[in-house]
Amino acid sequence: MRADMRTQVGIVGAGPAGLLLSHLLAQRGIDSVLVESRSREYCEARQRAGVLEAGSVALLREAGLGARLDREGIEHGGIYLQFDGQRRHLDFRDLTGRTVTVYAQTEVVKDLIARRLADGGVIEFGVTAPEIADLDSHRPVLSYTDARGSRQELTCEVIVGCDGFHGMSRAAIPASALTIRERGYPYSWLGILAAVPPSTDELIYAYHERGFALHSLRSPLTSRLYLQVGRDEKIEEWPDERIWDELDRRFQLPGWTLHRGPVLDKGITPMRSFVAAPMRHGRLFLAGDAAHIVPPTGAKGLNLALADVAVLAPALDQLLHGDSSLAGAYSDTCLRRIWRSTHFSWWMTTMLHRKPGADDMETELQLAQLRYVTASRAAATSLAENYTGYPT
Ligand code: FAD
Ligand code: DHB
Repeated sequence: MRADMRTQVGIVGAGPAGLLLSHLLAQRGIDSVLVESRSREYCEARQRAGVLEAGSVALLREAGLGARLDREGIEHGGIYLQFDGQRRHLDFRDLTGRTVTVYAQTEVVKDLIARRLADGGVIEFGVTAPEIADLDSHRPVLSYTDARGSRQELTCEVIVGCDGFHGMSRAAIPASALTIRERGYPYSWLGILAAVPPSTDELIYAYHERGFALHSLRSPLTSRLYLQVGRDEKIEEWPDERIWDELDRRFQLPGWTLHRGPVLDKGITPMRSFVAAPMRHGRLFLAGDAAHIVPPTGAKGLNLALADVAVLAPALDQLLHGDSSLAGAYSDTCLRRIWRSTHFSWWMTTMLHRKPGADDMETELQLAQLRYVTASRAAATSLAENYTGYPT
């Protein structure tokens, strides 16, 4: 046991939230140690989100992390909504003056890890059995077994749980101190990454009687596609041919072809809306998926995680200098954006997915909504404003 390790901020989880927080703190001269249960290779390869709001791009640029993002990120000025056998374009530039950028979460994570390590930051990959103790004191303790098998004890001034929905940090807060709001959805997303140039210039969100489908992309040579599948389906039931056939049916449009290619990665993700509040208990703060998750249809999860830590870094800076006002407001400040995104993600999800057993009434209501958001400039502007994001 090494009982003498100290840091100002102990961070659990090297996803986008934990990594960006340690970088923003370092820029303010604040020392942190990041502990992560997976290997660096695993964190860098985990396929997840792909769309950055304008505010997230600005945040990464301001933090000095924009070089590769500016070179390789693909700016998109809108999306397509497909329904009723037609594909309608929503022009975000025209509606809001704003755009989004396609730049995969894997790339954001690679950039952040490389930068932290180049700056001398400490990231302990491959830790096991992390535990948080003495939460109500001024010196909470983060203990863990490092990758070499030695138990470590890290005395901190603050601990931040950035360890995702299934992490241990939220569970360290007494259940009676948290209010949980939660909703499940009766379907999942099957996602593939394919080595084939995208068949579209901008993302296609398709409503279809067989279920929702999304055509996204990662680069001029790589496509990312999603299918609504049953809640309990297994990836083994979906050989590549079956996935492409189903994507073909849902995106079908006269004169348009979906190009097929080798599938590089595939997986199924359940959908949930979840908000735990407050996002602070004593000297433990929660950020990103550790505190809240949204169904992916609105492309908000990654953006919310980045926005949380942009609020948290200056709040912790103040707190460590004896002023607790921003830290006291942290949870409420973040929750306003989180609830807006939670509503938008729920709205996009329920508008675009087929509920198992849905009747004709439900279908007509969804189609009426889709026709409205593509025909009314006011309704289209509302979608565009939410999709491109809120000011940071
Ligand atoms: P995470 O990225 O989850 O990072 C948490 C980190 O903590 C991980 O590295 C994890 O290994 C680590 N960790 C967990 N437990 C422990 C522990 N006990 N000790 C130490 N470390 C721990 N959003 C979109 O917008 N679009 C999408 O298509 C999309 N797809 C998704 C697919 C999946 C399978 C998942 C799970 C999420 C998806 N999301 C998507 C959501 C988006 O990726 C997340 O909102 C984003 O990753 C949140 O970042 P985070 O840093 O808060 O958490
Ligand atoms: C992607 C994921 C989303 O959830 C979304 O709404 C748009 C794009 C993606 O992975 O590219």
